[in-house]
Amino acid sequence: MQTLLAFVSIAVATFPAILAAQEPAAAPTMKAIRFHKFGGPEVLVLDDVPRPEPAAGELLVRVLAAGVNPVDWKVRGGMMRGKLPMIPGYDVAGVVDKAGAEVKDFAPGDRVMVYLALNRGGGYAEYATAPAKDCAKFGKDLAPTSAAAIPLAALTAWQALFETAKLAEGQTVLIHAGAGGVGHFAVQLAKSRGARVLATASEKNLDFLKELGADVAIDYRAQRFEDVAKDVDVVLDAVGGDTLGRSYGVLKKGGFVVSIVQPPDPARLEELGLRGSVMLVQPNGAQLAQIAELVQTGKLKPHVSATYPLAEARKAQEASATGHTRGKIVLKVAD
Ligand SMILES: NC(=O)c1ccc[n+]([C@@H]2O[C@H](COP(=O)([O-])OP(=O)(O)OC[C@H]3O[C@@H](n4cnc5c(N)ncnc54)[C@H](OP(=O)(O)O)[C@@H]3O)[C@@H](O)[C@H]2O)c1
Repeated sequence: MQTLLAFVSIAVATFPAILAAQEPAAAPTMKAIRFHKFGGPEVLVLDDVPRPEPAAGELLVRVLAAGVNPVDWKVRGGMMRGKLPMIPGYDVAGVVDKAGAEVKDFAPGDRVMVYLALNRGGGYAEYATAPAKDCAKFGKDLAPTSAAAIPLAALTAWQALFETAKLAEGQTVLIHAGAGGVGHFAVQLAKSRGARVLATASEKNLDFLKELGADVAIDYRAQRFEDVAKDVDVVLDAVGGDTLGRSYGVLKKGGFVVSIVQPPDPARLEELGLRGSVMLVQPNGAQLAQIAELVQTGKLKPHVSATYPLAEARKAQEASATGHTRGKIVLKVAD
């Protein structure tokens, strides 16, 4: 009888353990900033969410840093409606954790940066999935916070100047908001192509523009830029409104105005014999690899003016929304 009792008590004691061993392992989770409704910075919350799995052709990236861009708070505010809740963020730098099926050029352990398309997002998180074709590798000598500053802004500058406006060596370009995220890459990229560069900023950023390589730094508050810039081949407009409206007159006949904020006025283009268009940046791993190469060889420098921990994404977006960031703001997600 005693033996039977002992057996029963052992069985009762070990049964839960046996059961637990047979239960499937809980799906891994991660910390992520999300918003469950569109609105102000207060809608951003830190949640525990399931870790994503890479589909075929995708990488699962352990995020070390995530870039902050104006589009992040514009989407949060309802500019582009998508399925809620949403994880904001379109720029990440991190380490490949897992490669999905059919991925050839990347393996776990690679350090990668990527611009996640606007319909994808998901950057403000400990893990993010990204199409491998949109990613580019970066070396150990580049800090992840610097790498995360690059993709969206540098690709915008590259595609606006080189693909859309076809800026060529020896041409003159006027870059509005030259001290901002897009502008500080644009000034450097235009110089590296052998262009003469005029750029606008407020007084506190004029020395910064010169350090980036601008030939002429224009204080847009103290001077009318059209009094300084004349006969230019290309205008890169990152401001819009009155700034775009006054930019047609600085272009030579046949010149090109590329705006990244609003379409140029077709009537003004026609009237003055100009060309122009608005452009929307596209993910592009091959271009990003060329940009990464310029960074690795010291020809292009991302400037990070502030970093915040992931949990302080709200503060980071508020700082970005002032419209006066020098270079980039980045979230530090992990070491
Ligand atoms: N179409 C696309 O694909 C695309 C891609 C990226 C960005 N964008 C848009 O382009 C805009 C710029 O993006 P970003 O990331 O460069 O923004 P950002 O980093 O926030 O730009 C901040 C910079 O703008 C400068 N600035 C503000 N008002 C100015 C003015 N009137 N004239 C000249 N400079 C001025 C500021 O210089 P001071 O502090 O010296 O005033 C600051 O350095 C945003 O609206 C963004 O959403 C569009």
